Amino acid sequence: MIEGLKDKVVIVTGGGHGIGKAYSLGFGQSGSCVVVADIDKPAADKVSAEIVQQTGAHALALHTDVADEGSTKEMAAAVRQHFGRIDVLINNAAIFATIPMNRGRIETIDPDEWDRLMAVNLKGLFFCCRAVLPSMRAQKSGKIINIASGTVFAGSPGRIHYVTSKMATIGFTRTLAREVGDDNINVNVLAPGNTLSEENPSQEVIRLRQSSAGLRALKRIQMPQDVVGAMLFMASPLSDFITGQTVNVDGGISFL
Ligand SMILES: NC(=O)c1ccc[n+]([C@@H]2O[C@H](COP(=O)([O-])OP(=O)(O)OC[C@H]3O[C@@H](n4cnc5c(N)ncnc54)[C@H](O)[C@@H]3O)[C@@H](O)[C@H]2O)c1
Repeated sequence: MIEGLKDKVVIVTGGGHGIGKAYSLGFGQSGSCVVVADIDKPAADKVSAEIVQQTGAHALALHTDVADEGSTKEMAAAVRQHFGRIDVLINNAAIFATIPMNRGRIETIDPDEWDRLMAVNLKGLFFCCRAVLPSMRAQKSGKIINIASGTVFAGSPGRIHYVTSKMATIGFTRTLAREVGDDNINVNVLAPGNTLSEENPSQEVIRLRQSSAGLRALKRIQMPQDVVGAMLFMASPLSDFITGQTVNVDGGISFL
C-alpha cells in the first residue's frame, strides 16, 4: 500500500477494534510484520488472523494492558523474541468506544473514571514508549505515533477527562521527540476527527458521528479507512524528517 513498510515490525496497541484494526490491516497490506496488542485478546486474535488471510503478512496477537507497566514490558519482549526488532509503535489504545466512557459534563465525571482513563490513555503511552525505546535506541531508528483527537483543537462540551488526556499526548510527543532525536527516532501525533469506528453502530452512534459532517470542508462522515493513509505515511521512510508534529485528519474541521 505504501513504499518502505515491507518487513517493518509495527506494534498497534488497541489494534483489535475500530481505527486500530484499520491501521493493523493497512500495515498488513503494506507487508509489515504486525503486532496487534489489545486488552481484548480474542479481538486481537481475530484481526491477526484476518491480516494473515487477507494479506499474507506476518502477524502476532498479544494480550496487553497498556496501563500496566509489566504488561507493556512483556509486550516488547514478546515482539523482540518473535521478530527480533521493533520499528514502529502506534499508541492507539484508549478508553473511548469499545471500553466506553462517560460523555457528560464535568460534574458527572466520577474521579475514579478520571483516574482509570488517564491510566490507559496517557500513562499507557508513557509505559509503551519506555518498553520499546531500548530496542529503538539500540537500532538507532524507530517511529512512534501517538493518537490524539480532533476534539482537542476546538474543545468539546462533555468528556473533559478524555479531551484532557488527548491534549496531553501533544506535549508528551513534543518532549519525547527532542529526547530521542539523537537516536534517529521520530515521535509524532496523529489526530483523527470524529470517526464512525464502531463495528455495529446504533442509530444514536451514527447520529453522533454524522454530527461532524456538516462542519467539514469535505462534508461526509469519517470512516476508519480515512485515517489509514496518513498513518502509513507517518510510519514510513517518506516522513523521516518529520518529528514532534501533529497531523490532523478530520476532513477539514480544524485548520492548525
Ligand atoms: N472514533 C473516533 O471518533 C476517534 C476520534 C479521535 C481519536 N480517536 C482515538 O483513536 C483511537 C482508536 O479509537 P476507536 O474509535 O477505534 O476506539 P475503540 O474504543 O474502538 O478502540 C480502542 C481499542 O483500545 C483497546 N483498549 C482499551 N483499553 C486498553 C488497554 N488498557 N490496553 C490495551 N488495549 C486497550 C480496546 O479494546 C480497543 O480495541 C483512540 O485512541 C481514540 O481515542 C477516535
